[in-house]
Amino acid sequence: METEVVKPGTLEELIRILHDIFSSDKVNVEEVQAIMESYESNPQDWMQYATFDPYRYTRHLVDEGNGKFNLMILCWGEGHGSSIHDHADSHCFMKMLQGNLKETLFDWPDKKTKGEMSKKSERILKDNQCAYISDSIGLHRVENSSHTESAVSLHLYSPPFDSCQTFDQRTGHKSKVKMTFWSAYGKRTPFASEVATRENN
Ligand code: SIN
Repeated sequence: METEVVKPGTLEELIRILHDIFSSDKVNVEEVQAIMESYESNPQDWMQYATFDPYRYTRHLVDEGNGKFNLMILCWGEGHGSSIHDHADSHCFMKMLQGNLKETLFDWPDKKTKGEMSKKSERILKDNQCAYISDSIGLHRVENSSHTESAVSLHLYSPPFDSCQTFDQRTGHKSKVKMTFWSAYGKRTPFASEVATRENN
């Protein structure tokens, strides 16, 4: 039997529903994906978080999900992208709020045969679409390949994590990176702590 999806009218309502869903210990991937996809993005709901940086994408913490998940808004200027990275054994849901993003999937690098990492697939995420990835699916890179339009996405990570591994596409060599927030709950995070961990992807 199909689960009925209650369509959230606002981002706040979506957050309430996500709290409910995650009060159970088991994550139902299809249910979370469907509920996130069913929220129709309204910039009025999220524009207080949407601050861009000229050089790299920015991460804005929106909700800590009672310790079960982190919900954040990512702002991607023209041409901004992430490194190829894993998700620290967490679930990753990524929903488009504005513009389009290109997601490229990669296989985990083969430890024995060092060399160019193999691309599995590539797709463009648009208009409220919600993608899902976990380490068992593989690694990904996310990019705003537009030269004229910015993009905004909503990410849910469960359990929350603050560091992950990034990979060099030519060699498969990995590095551990700490991930930082440009703002939390609409307030700029202290500049010093952001600078200290600026090596994030
Ligand atoms: C992602 O994994 O979808 C984007 C990278 C990030 O969270 O910084």
